[in-house]
Amino acid sequence: MGSNFGEEGRRLSYGSYLKIPELLSLQECLTEAHDELLFIAVHQAYELWFKVLLQELEAVRDRMQLDDTFWSRHALRRVSVIWRLLIEQVEVLETMSPQDFLAFRSELAPASGFQSIQFREIEFISGLKNPSYLKRLEASPEEQARLRRRLEEPTLWDAFCALVERRGSPSLEEVFKRRDLHGELFDLSEGLLDHDESFALWRSRHVLMVERQIGSKTGTGGSTGAQYLRSTLDKRFFPELWAVRSRL
Ligand code: HEM
Repeated sequence: MGSNFGEEGRRLSYGSYLKIPELLSLQECLTEAHDELLFIAVHQAYELWFKVLLQELEAVRDRMQLDDTFWSRHALRRVSVIWRLLIEQVEVLETMSPQDFLAFRSELAPASGFQSIQFREIEFISGLKNPSYLKRLEASPEEQARLRRRLEEPTLWDAFCALVERRGSPSLEEVFKRRDLHGELFDLSEGLLDHDESFALWRSRHVLMVERQIGSKTGTGGSTGAQYLRSTLDKRFFPELWAVRSRL
């Protein structure tokens, strides 16, 4: 008797491989509010993508260290597409009206996206290292260790600069003006800038959503809310890559 398609080898299935029952048991709403499931699912989806982003950003850095610019650029392309998705995802949450958010918002405090460990890891590996988060974030010992490792390890910019040095230390202006000689470095720098620009776009998209949901109220994490978030909008991972444009 031949088995039917989809029934061979019973050891592994879609659900058991992907741990779907476990995954679907992780959305524990605190209230009966209709929109709370959406709120939880969107945040969890962000954290899953942050996990993938971190793996890709590590690959970008590690491959640069191995002079493998092809794979660095390949991974940067994926980073860029993931960011597009993450920026668009904000719109889903914006279908929630502020009154509907208020139906469960008070239950959330003092939890806040401010405490996302992976978000800080992305900032750190990209070059925005800030050791003060080690004290400010309520992190488990395992999360503390991850953050400490990110603070100690080389950033994307460190790896890029080391690569530029191994390629004869051309200045950024030379890289931009002589693409015939430094095409790979130029492409890499543009890929890095895409990542930087995407992150800045996410920040501004997030603050607009915050203003739409809670106006000028303080955040559940205890900050001034949109006012605090607006103070982060000018942060950049690679200021040199922005600055060189004025000198061309
Ligand atoms: C209704 C939707 C949302 C509202 C009203 C909101 C509100 C806020 C506020 C007010 C802050 C400032 C810190 C505080 O006092 O709490 C904040 C920070 C933050 N939120 Fe959201 N947020 C929302 C959705 C999201 C989503 C979907 C994510 C995705 C992971 C996210 C990630 C973050 C991060 C990473 C920070 C820290 C930013 C930084 O310190 O630079 N937020 N959010």
